[in-house]
Amino acid sequence: MKVFLTYGTTEGQTAKIADVVADVLRDRGHEITKVDVKDARGAIPDGYDGVILGASIHMGKHDKHVVELAQRNHDVLARVPAAFFSVSLAAYGDPPEAEGYVEQFEQETGWRPGTVGIFGGALLYTQYGFVKRHMMKKIASDKPGSLDTDISRDHVYTEWDGVRRFAEGYAARLELQSASSV
Ligand SMILES: Cc1cc2nc3c(=O)[nH]c(=O)nc-3n(C[C@H](O)[C@H](O)[C@H](O)COP(=O)(O)O)c2cc1C
Repeated sequence: MKVFLTYGTTEGQTAKIADVVADVLRDRGHEITKVDVKDARGAIPDGYDGVILGASIHMGKHDKHVVELAQRNHDVLARVPAAFFSVSLAAYGDPPEAEGYVEQFEQETGWRPGTVGIFGGALLYTQYGFVKRHMMKKIASDKPGSLDTDISRDHVYTEWDGVRRFAEGYAARLELQSASSV
């Protein structure tokens, strides 16, 4: 099956998650086209059997290019098995907040994905500029006990087994769909 996977990332963690999702699907024999949403030109091309969108959260909002892509492509998202994954720090430290982000995405886009993944992101202190590093440290220290405040290194909260399970679950849905349409 041919799957179009597009993701919106600012610091790169969602791209790494997209890589793992793509690897799982390829291992199951599917053909994956993986594209940064900024290169997708607002369209999901024709000819795919499935679509996966992924987006990270900044300041309480999903990547705006992914939101716009979902808003503009209702037809294809309804026609083929489609999935969405959301990447945030809340997914690690505050799951109800992370679920709220997905609900907000569904309301904003008018699309209710059949498969949803919610994954922890990363605090990449060593890669942020001065202002961002200290802002993120302040946010992390306001959430006692959950997020790391050691700015001398990066902290990754993505649970990779959860990412693989999401991809496996989606693949199973895709394969079931293809078997039932034969
Ligand atoms: C400036 C900034 C703002 C952020 N705002 C939020 C937020 O409002 N809620 C949240 O849960 N995570 C927030 N995060 C955490 C990101 O979702 C997390 O770092 C994620 O890994 C980013 O994914 P990306 O590298 O694919 O863009 C923020 C991160 C940064 C750097």
